[in-house]
Amino acid sequence: MKNIYILSCLTLLNSCSAFKTSGPYEKEIHYVSLAKGQTKADHEKVTEKINIATQGSFATKAAYETFKKGGNIIDAATTASFVLAVERPQSTGIGGGGFALYHDANRGKDFPLTVDFREKAPINAHEKMFLDDKGEVISRMSLDGIFSAGVPGMVAGMLELHKEHGKLPLETVMQAAIKLARDGFTIYPELAYAISKRENIIKRYKATCAIFCDKNGDILKEGDKLVQSDLSKTLKIISKKGRDGFYKGTIAKALVGEHRRLKGLMTQKDLDKYEVKYRDPIRGDYKGYEVFSMSPPSSGGVHIIEILNILRKDDLKTYGVQHSKTVHLRASAMQAAFSDRASYLGDTDFTYVPVTGLTSKKYADDVRYSIPENKALNSVWSNMNDPSKYEAKEDRELVNKYESPETTHFTIADGKGNVFVSTQTLNGYLGSGVIVPGTGILLNNEMDDFATKPGANNLFGAVGGEKNLVQPEKRPLSSMSPTIVTKDGKAVLGLGSPSGTRILTCVVQTIMNYLDHDMPLYESIAATRVHHQWKPNVLYVEESGLPARTIKDLKRMEHEIEYKKLGCRVQAISFEDGKLRGVSDPRGRGLVLGE
Ligand code: GLY
Repeated sequence: MKNIYILSCLTLLNSCSAFKTSGPYEKEIHYVSLAKGQTKADHEKVTEKINIATQGSFATKAAYETFKKGGNIIDAATTASFVLAVERPQSTGIGGGGFALYHDANRGKDFPLTVDFREKAPINAHEKMFLDDKGEVISRMSLDGIFSAGVPGMVAGMLELHKEHGKLPLETVMQAAIKLARDGFTIYPELAYAISKRENIIKRYKATCAIFCDKNGDILKEGDKLVQSDLSKTLKIISKKGRDGFYKGTIAKALVGEHRRLKGLMTQKDLDKYEVKYRDPIRGDYKGYEVFSMSPPSSGGVHIIEILNILRKDDLKTYGVQHSKTVHLRASAMQAAFSDRASYLGDTDFTYVPVTGLTSKKYADDVRYSIPENKALNSVWSNMNDPSKYEAKEDRELVNKYESPETTHFTIADGKGNVFVSTQTLNGYLGSGVIVPGTGILLNNEMDDFATKPGANNLFGAVGGEKNLVQPEKRPLSSMSPTIVTKDGKAVLGLGSPSGTRILTCVVQTIMNYLDHDMPLYESIAATRVHHQWKPNVLYVEESGLPARTIKDLKRMEHEIEYKKLGCRVQAISFEDGKLRGVSDPRGRGLVLGE
């Protein structure tokens, strides 16, 4: 049972501006507040049999309906994925990809099933594809248009999971998505914003404007209706034919045809060769809990465990969650992790990543030793330790064999102790902006998650390294971090978030708030978050702020502070005394349902 020492402030969470609790410095906590018109009841539910937390109200309701029809959590997850693909085209879709972890209570202490359905580079892609003759990065080429699209993996991933672990027929679980795309829905503020941000690219492609523009050729706005009839037909084909409905036949032909027309790189061979990969999750133990998260090609799991390891001996609870000491140490551990991300992370099927070194406690202790107690790491600081030295020879040999305010996340758990977490994406708002004519498929722009050249930044400002350069069939480095925490093999918490590089720092802060600081789940999520990604050397603080004394102390330590929206929307479910507590981040317009 969690210790609810800040219960007195809960009712305030319905107010529309940031607020803080009163009390001594170490217990003064700043929280974000709910968006206008939202109630706490939409964002938190305590249930027994099933709990569903997603970023989309249609997705949550449809997944719950699937459960009521006799579906299990994989059926519900399949419904949620396809409905989100219709409801949130700004962040996910069948032209994209993702990752999932599934803790099956019957498998007890076994690792969660860890599934990689990330997009991959086309066979014809190459290291210099985003550079001009002088070796300079061609502006926006990895972000807009046909070359920015990787080979989609979402349909393969969710269908394979459904085939192996679902109970209901595919046509049943996909019904809601088919209907929503056909009938349409009213454009909500977040989607309207994304459409407005991508106006230029929408207008560049006739098939894209046909969906996102009105009859006068103007982009759709908040309150307009978004109908995706072609997408509905494509989903129907997939629901009848399964994977082949997407990767072969008329849909595949249209996809490859559009690449040919726009002189893109994808061919039928890319679609034929697309494989869902089963990985070992990244595993850490933290204060008596086991933490499992996504392995490369995501950087998320490695750095979540690295940050937890670095901080594991610090008694941060005694200081308080928003004390300058806690924030300084969290930020410094994030800096160390992002310095490593730039140097060492990439797709382990193509490059050696010192995963065991980066997640070893000895390495973390040496990194912790290099963090000053009361001074920010400076702008030229870089992690001088070589994580590969912290690996046993066998680990190194094993890995050397190459074994092994976009994006959306949802979490589903049931009363039997099962939990499913998945983060899915098209990368930037509306992905590449290219809709394959006649199919409604919006292609991703995941190629931007590769390093266009060493040292170049991606959409999220992350610095790219050699290990993450484009190679044929390689998967671009991600930060997506679907994460499951267990204790003695039983699920304790499932969570994840969208928002690029911020994902892993938002997930790690939620875990620490919940496990270290004993905060209730809702408050663990609502508390002001910070983010540091090494470069730029800036400590980002959410606009809801931190106690005045914390800010003063952090500045004295020479932290460069900038207030910024971080874009995370954590969707989490905890298992508490036989109950399921689901929370959808109050920063967004998600919905939690269950019974
Ligand atoms: N495209 C965002 C990520 O994969 O982290």
